[in-house]
Amino acid sequence: MKLQPVITEKVAADLKRTVEQAAPSLLAIRESDAARQPAPGKWSPKEIVGHLIDSAVNNHLRFVRAQLQEDLVFPGYPQDEWVQLQQYNAIPWPALVMLWKAFNVHMAHVMAAASPSVRARPRVRHNLHEIAFRTVSETAPATLEYLMQDYVIHLKHHLRQIANARAGDRAPLPAMLVDLGVCIIRDWRPDDAASVARHANNRNVWRNLRDRFPHPYTEDDARQFVDASLAAQPRTNFAIDVGGEAVGSIGVILQDDIERVGAELGYWLGEDYWGRGITTAAVNAVARYALDTFDLKRLYAIAFVWNPASARVLEKAGFKLEGIMLKSAVKDGEVTDQCLYAMTRE
Ligand SMILES: CC(C)(COP(=O)(O)OP(=O)(O)OC[C@H]1O[C@@H](n2cnc3c(N)ncnc32)[C@H](O)[C@@H]1OP(=O)(O)O)[C@@H](O)C(=O)NCCC(=O)NCCS
Repeated sequence: MKLQPVITEKVAADLKRTVEQAAPSLLAIRESDAARQPAPGKWSPKEIVGHLIDSAVNNHLRFVRAQLQEDLVFPGYPQDEWVQLQQYNAIPWPALVMLWKAFNVHMAHVMAAASPSVRARPRVRHNLHEIAFRTVSETAPATLEYLMQDYVIHLKHHLRQIANARAGDRAPLPAMLVDLGVCIIRDWRPDDAASVARHANNRNVWRNLRDRFPHPYTEDDARQFVDASLAAQPRTNFAIDVGGEAVGSIGVILQDDIERVGAELGYWLGEDYWGRGITTAAVNAVARYALDTFDLKRLYAIAFVWNPASARVLEKAGFKLEGIMLKSAVKDGEVTDQCLYAMTRE
């Protein structure tokens, strides 16, 4: 199969974003569910992620060696045996996910670091008919670029496999749609990307959020975010809609391991709409929704000390200031304190 000629830098950035966005959803899977095989002989989520680590290890060697040798001939690996020998089900789920994520962030770096001319050079000798996910005929030349793209396609295939298995596990949640008067909270729609990019591409918004919120914020970033939010199982991210347009975002990150009784709340709103009580209404509604739907005991939110508007929103919505986390973050080149707000329930 022939892949579209795509610039590897873009594929590498996509890989990094994909693993960073997938990690929280993976971590939301309970330890016992992560070790459960959906059917005899079918990999559990732990085994799938273990297999993806094996794939990263093998492809890492291929990507580096391909820059030092003329051909693309590499050893394969019997994937079932590798998974079995390493007993991935015995490894704690968070440790596996974090290893997978860290390795793939490095893979994205290795891909982007390879010289474009080396990546694009046609190699007559290769064994991609044996080792690639989407094989290349032995008689057609292959490129390192192709192998890199193939790696990311394979990774996404297995992420979808985990998401689909989880979706089948539980009754899907009903669509989110709450009319709060000042705004509507609803599920994302693929056509939200343009308005999200317009409102998110703002330094005053970015300055109050984590660095994984891109700046500048492109339509491509918005599309990735909307797609990931729609694909997540369960859905935990929602659009803040005013006048039919997505002008902000609100959601929770379900915590895992001993902190699985809680979730972190996050939100932003386009600057044109600040000061109208929109986020206070949204936080009130989504906090209640998250506590009930995910059966949580605790919701927390963290605001930079320089963000009194967010602190005020949280206080108005019933969150209590639990403390100031001294020098707990670096944002925009400044080491800063953060306010920890939380609400709990019996
Ligand atoms: C923080 C943010 C979500 C607030 O949204 P919003 O819809 O304007 O909030 P609301 O209108 O519901 O409430 C804002 C409150 O903060 C108050 N406020 C705003 N600026 C303030 C300031 N500089 N000092 C003190 N209070 C301030 C408002 O007066 C209002 O309180 P009031 O109703 O008692 O008068 C919005 O500014 C934003 O998206 N900022 C960038 C991203 C961000 O900070 N996200 C949160 C990360 S923790």
